[in-house]
Amino acid sequence: MSGGNFSVPTGQHGTGAPEMPPLGRPPAAPTIPGEQDRVTQPLPFERSSVGPVTGPASGQATVTAESPVGAATATVELGPTGRPFPALPEPRPLTTHGNARVISMCNQKGGVGKTTTTINLGAALAEYGRKVLLVDFDPQGSLSVGLGLNPHEMELTVYNLLMEKDVALDEVVVPSGVPGMDLLPSNIDLSAAEVQLVHEVAREQTLARVLAPAIEHYDVILIDCQPSLGLLTVNALTASDGVIVPLECEYFALRGVALLKTTIDKVRERLNPKLEIDGVLGTMYDGRTLHGREVMERLVQAWGDQVFHTVIRRTVKFSDSTVAGEPITTYASTSTGADAYRSLAKEVVVRCLDG
Ligand SMILES: Nc1ncnc2c1ncn2[C@@H]1O[C@H](COP(=O)(O)OP(=O)(O)OP(=O)(O)O)[C@@H](O)[C@H]1O
Ligand SMILES: [Mg+2]
Repeated sequence: MSGGNFSVPTGQHGTGAPEMPPLGRPPAAPTIPGEQDRVTQPLPFERSSVGPVTGPASGQATVTAESPVGAATATVELGPTGRPFPALPEPRPLTTHGNARVISMCNQKGGVGKTTTTINLGAALAEYGRKVLLVDFDPQGSLSVGLGLNPHEMELTVYNLLMEKDVALDEVVVPSGVPGMDLLPSNIDLSAAEVQLVHEVAREQTLARVLAPAIEHYDVILIDCQPSLGLLTVNALTASDGVIVPLECEYFALRGVALLKTTIDKVRERLNPKLEIDGVLGTMYDGRTLHGREVMERLVQAWGDQVFHTVIRRTVKFSDSTVAGEPITTYASTSTGADAYRSLAKEVVVRCLDG
């Protein structure tokens, strides 16, 4: 397919993108399910029923709801998204590797947890025996720095791989320090690629082309996008099977999502028909505030089952682990943050790796 005239939308709202309802309105009354449906069907959900977070180590809130159906009392565990939290099976061990699913972490808003999610989801999947490749596709190089690399000491980066025909993938890949997880590092050089790629034939497919030899070696490839919807991000979406959208649980964070959805739809239509939204991830959630819980409610109203049941709570442990240059799963292995990313890894395996 030719690179053609892909243009990134500039409007705020696109067709087909879910509208975010305003805060302060009570949610529509849901249907009351029968007791036998209680694991999969939503229960009556009132804002006041989402109490302060006192849940187990996984960080999921536990709420008991009474069903008015018959005389029986139904007890369910509601997760932080207000839906019953499903039992997530331990990922089965793999005996062979390959046929990687490529997933981009994408949101043009800055500081929403894309890089943190790439590192920690990758590390949690590696703990479950998946072979993981992380791709730092942001000229800020935060993913590389977050895994302890010095941006000034990188011999070869994704930039060389994209722009120089004689550079092979395995010359650029480095170990991440986490067993089973490798890294394609980046630094500020990558910002030049965005300008130089404009003149290339099939410019949007450049990353897909250079990543192709990695597919047979890994089970999952996670691409950390930069906070923009420019040519690098379009390259990442074109190279991907799925997208995970990390979203800070703060009201203004929801506003640009319609534009992101439009971009994803355009890439699917024009460049990459297989592209799916693998999930929307609530990050930096604070269940103690009404605001945090309201935003979560609106997120689920707008995106439904695309919202991961797992939610990442706000904790300083993430900044601490970045300074230490390692994932939270090794830096603070028993913390709620580490457990949350293990839970996300299980959900990702069920939804789109083994499913
Ligand atoms: N759940 C969390 N709780 C508290 N702090 C967090 C959490 N997740 C990420 N952070 C911190 O927020 C900052 C931004 O996170 P991160 O770099 O992952 O976002 P990003 O979306 O990749 O940003 P950018 O758009 O600039 O690439 C970092 O300092 C990180 O340590
Ligand atoms: Mg980042």
